[in-house]
Amino acid sequence: MSVTITENALATAITALRAAGCVFAEEEAAILSAAAADDAALEVLVKRRAQGEPLEQVVGHADFAGIRVRLRPGVFVPRVRSQLLVDVAARHVNEARHVNEARPMNAAEAHPVVLDLCCGSGALGLAVRHRTPGIHLHAADLDPTATACARDNGISHVHEGDLYEPLPAKLRARVDVLLANVPYVATPHLPLLPAEARDHEPRLALDGGPDGLDIFRRVVGSAPMWLSETGILLSEITEAQERPALDAIRDSGLDGDVIYDEDLDARVVRARKL
Ligand SMILES: C[S@@+](CC[C@H](N)C(=O)[O-])C[C@H]1O[C@@H](n2cnc3c(N)ncnc32)[C@H](O)[C@@H]1O
Repeated sequence: MSVTITENALATAITALRAAGCVFAEEEAAILSAAAADDAALEVLVKRRAQGEPLEQVVGHADFAGIRVRLRPGVFVPRVRSQLLVDVAARHVNEARHVNEARPMNAAEAHPVVLDLCCGSGALGLAVRHRTPGIHLHAADLDPTATACARDNGISHVHEGDLYEPLPAKLRARVDVLLANVPYVATPHLPLLPAEARDHEPRLALDGGPDGLDIFRRVVGSAPMWLSETGILLSEITEAQERPALDAIRDSGLDGDVIYDEDLDARVVRARKL
């Protein structure tokens, strides 16, 4: 608890959070207390949380894959399962480094390029950079609140616009890891999402069209133009999306496979040039 928060205010916070149905009321009250300057500020934060706003948006940050990222209200909260994307991406960056070391190249080519497309807060790219320092990190998103958030988080090359449209041409055929955690919830499933997501994350961040793969198909369709010869594209998908996602990859002239992590219950589809 922050030293400026009184025992009384903390107890009131726990009661209010419990009444609002928070299962981890004591833990959440401690996190909110640490983020509040005084009792009055704590009361405001508790009220927002009790109204269903995600804890991470209320305190303004999320802990993800070993790093802390700043979050603005309305920006997608990075999910624990997305660590799998980071694990696979970091592994590939290290492999790309070994390949680069074995061949002559100019200075710019020596740093693997990671593109965090549909970046939201930029959490995925930042976590990969944390694990594999020295990469060239680019991030892009259509939502100006998300791109502002990614800049808050210290990403220098943030581009705003529809998918690849705002990217500099110099990235063509240069991307070693294309992280694309696109919106992939099938439209009919949106009402089934927890209220936190439904009410406090923009539809733009969630809705992937009739089968959830509309944006994914667009990303895959243009990926061959941006991937380096040994580059990979990584996207999170659901079990039901495995077959159609692999079909889309094959239709784009790429090779694909699926990686599943039981502990995270996460599924990532990976595409690369044949
Ligand atoms: C599921 S969120 C993922 C955010 C972030 N990558 C993460 O994992 O925390 C999807 C993101 O895609 C962005 N987005 C949706 N449609 C887009 C488009 N056509 N072009 C670029 N970004 C888009 C949304 O604004 C949102 O930030």
